[in-house]
Amino acid sequence: MNIMITGGCGYIGSHVTISLEKLGHNITIYDNFSNSNKDQIKRLDLICTSNIDYICADITDTKSLKNILKDKKIESVVHMAGLKYVGDSESDPISYYENNVSGTISLLKAMNECEIKNLVFSSSATVYGEPEYLPIDENHSTSPISVYGRTKLYVENILKDLSLSDPDWSIICLRYFNPAGAHHSGFIGEEITSKSENLFPTIGKVLSGITPSLKVYGRDYQTHDGTGIRDYIHVSDLSEGHAMSVEYVNNNKGIENINLGRGHGYSVLEVIKSFEKITKKKIPYEFAEFRSGDISSSFADVTKAKQILGWIATRDLDDMCKSMWYYDQNKDSIF
Ligand code: WQD
Repeated sequence: MNIMITGGCGYIGSHVTISLEKLGHNITIYDNFSNSNKDQIKRLDLICTSNIDYICADITDTKSLKNILKDKKIESVVHMAGLKYVGDSESDPISYYENNVSGTISLLKAMNECEIKNLVFSSSATVYGEPEYLPIDENHSTSPISVYGRTKLYVENILKDLSLSDPDWSIICLRYFNPAGAHHSGFIGEEITSKSENLFPTIGKVLSGITPSLKVYGRDYQTHDGTGIRDYIHVSDLSEGHAMSVEYVNNNKGIENINLGRGHGYSVLEVIKSFEKITKKKIPYEFAEFRSGDISSSFADVTKAKQILGWIATRDLDDMCKSMWYYDQNKDSIF
């Protein structure tokens, strides 16, 4: 099948590219490279055996999207292009609404005009906001506490209205919990940038000596060890969930929101412990104030993903730490 992946050179997007290409699909990546560099193309070509088309363009350019959808005879779209930093979204909401919401509307217009109505959308568990109960299932209320989370929810609502207006659309919104880890090859993984505020890349900065020690935000949460709990999911499990979602949207109509997580939470101290075991290095840390906007605990009810997609995560916390560490050690020695 001919599939277009917007944002396919990003951290998660490149893993999704690998999962879909491995299944024999013809991949066209549409990416403005704002959050990835052209090196990623060489890295993907080291792993993928078939030819991948790379289009450097922006999703707000509807005309360009239409041309590619037609030229490449695209049958399904995995939409991952978007801005993703929670902190950034608070200080620059316009860019987040323009890219994440207007950019998606531009894509939907192009798809509609080309009669392409199979879509997998990269959403986020941040749409839930503060959990009212745990584990969080897809019926949980949605009240995101960040601009980033609100952009994801607005797009979900647009997709729901689109599906109601035209039953020919087949859509899955994947609500990611906390993606982490890297491809087992060590060729691709999460780039550590100054904007990285997530736990795993920040630990990566400590391990590589960029940051002297880790700040553990909050030690008095109502959790077994007082630190925040999250549902970390290996990026390869996540990308396999996308591949199964493409299969599903090509054989069904309507719209589904689906959680992608392990259904289990790990605390910050447990993540640190796992990294120390894997790397045999001490990770210096100090406790700091709560981080505004943080929630205490979040982990997924993943029943629906199993029922609808036949998908479950198979990799554990150690796999995530090991693969990230292996990538961080190897990424600069490839070329
Ligand atoms: C995890 C835990 C922190 C950094 C992200 C974003 C978004 C979303 C995944 C997809 C929390 C603690 C962190 C640090 C720490 N992705 N922490 N020191 O907060 O769930 O947010 O979720 O949509 O990327 O919404 O993930 O990795 O930032 O934090 O103590 O230096 O680690 O307090 O408890 P979070 P995170």
